[in-house]
Order: sequence, then structure tokens, then C-alpha cells
Amino acid sequence: MNSVASPQANETGRSIPNILVLDSGIGGLSVCQSVLASRVVCRIIYVADDAAFPYGTKSTASLSERLTDLVAYFLDFMTIDLVVLACNTVSTALLPMLRERFDVPFVGVVPAIKPAAFLSKNKILGLLATEATISRNYTDDLIADFASDCRVVKVGSSELVEFAEKFLKNAEIDSSVLKRILAPFMGLNADPQPDTIVLGCTHFPFLKKSMADLMPGVQWVDSGDAVARRVGSLLANGGPAEANKLDIEHQIFFTRNVPDTSGFKDTLSRLGFKRVKVSLKP
Ligand code: DGL
Repeated sequence: MNSVASPQANETGRSIPNILVLDSGIGGLSVCQSVLASRVVCRIIYVADDAAFPYGTKSTASLSERLTDLVAYFLDFMTIDLVVLACNTVSTALLPMLRERFDVPFVGVVPAIKPAAFLSKNKILGLLATEATISRNYTDDLIADFASDCRVVKVGSSELVEFAEKFLKNAEIDSSVLKRILAPFMGLNADPQPDTIVLGCTHFPFLKKSMADLMPGVQWVDSGDAVARRVGSLLANGGPAEANKLDIEHQIFFTRNVPDTSGFKDTLSRLGFKRVKVSLKP
């Protein structure tokens, strides 16, 4: 197969690494936002697997097959230096299998339980993620290892994933829906309420402002910046001055439908994409 994205060279002669970033939809763009803000020098090849959206309701076996096929396809299709699984649902189940299967470094995104436990004063944490993520052994192990001194109130919601996906494609926020989904954190079932809530799904940081309006005073913790740091250290490159001078064209592939709205283009530029090509996966 032809390579459509061979590494560009920058002015110092070093090639610009391509990172493949995958999620079920556009939630993983929250991770891209952190990578772009960190000014790691890389070209993002983002795959929004909207044909299989949402991942949170799929079996581990079907996700395993889907992700193996997608990663294999893109590794064959382009030069890829590193893969970011920008999805907690997939990372908490499949990271070891994918690392074993492919000869490229993988960075996973998993719920930021450790920093949240560190930040919490009242030692009551919320975990907001997909139903799949909140029920994984991996998540229980994270809590046992890093938050054994905390009570953790878990809320799993695929409805919220759909809500975030629509919001990013330019729909209005209906705060009564948000309020209903967040209700288990708000005093009724969890009294007192968590002072720190982990956004354990990459779709959710986009809703942070609306959620903060409903739950003032809560600290919202996600994994975006930690992932960006990890990407930077694995690529061992970057630096604000160098990144600013480069005019890298990023690429976003959808597996079913390319959103056809100017609102989506505005969203991309707000997230830090200066130049980006959006198309259907070939
Ligand atoms: N954004 C993903 C996550 O972090 C997947 C959500 C979904 O498709 O259910 O879990």
C-alpha cells in the first residue's frame, strides 16, 4: 500500500514523527489538544472510529478485533512512530495485547486516579467513565494501588459519551441531562459529595465547563497532560520555539461519516489544530 504520510523533515534535518491517535469518535481530540498545547513536535494522524461508536457498549472481544484491524491498517498505510490509544475503554482492556502484537510504542489513556487521590482533601473521589471502564479489573487495581484511602463513587454513562460527541459536532448542551447523569455525585447517594472527580473518558473534558457550573468547587481531573508528557518523552523531541516555527499538516480520518459543519472546523482550530485535513478513512 502507498504511504500517504511519510515523515516530513524540519529545518534541523530531523524528521517529524507521526503519531497515530485512536478513539471511537472525536473524544480523543481532548488528548490531541493537550499534545498540541505541549508543543511536542509531531504530526497527528487521528482516527475517529465512528463506524464502531460507542466503544463503551462493545464486548472486549469485538473491541480487540476492531482495534487490531485498525492499528494494522494504519501501520501498513503510513509511517507511524507511536500509537496513542486515546480511549480509556480500550486502554484499560487491550493495552498489553496491542503492545505484544505490534512493534511500535503504545501510550494508553487510563483514569487519572493517582493524581486525583493526591489532590482530594475529603478523600471522596468521583469516577465518571463508560460502564465498561468503571467495571474493569484494571480500574479496580488503580483504585486499590493509588486510592486505597479514598471512597470512590463510580458513575458509568454511555449516554454522556453520546452527549459529548454531539456537543463537539455543534449541538447545544441540555443541562438537565447533565444534571441527571451527575446526580449520583450530588449529595443524594453520595453525601458529602466528592471534592475531586476523575474524567475517565476522553470525551468528557469537553463538558468540563458545563459540569463545573452544576458542581462548583469540584476539581476535575483528566489524563490529557500526563499523556502529552509521556508522548514527548517517548519521542524525545520538541520545545516551544521549534514547534512554533513548524507548519505541520495533521490528518483526521473518520471511518463512517465526516462531519460537514463549519462548527466542527471551528472546534478543531480552538483545540489547537492550525492546519488539518479531515477525510474518510481510505
Ligand atoms: N472516549 C472513549 C473513552 O475514553 C470511548 C467512549 C465510547 O466510545 O464509549 O473511553
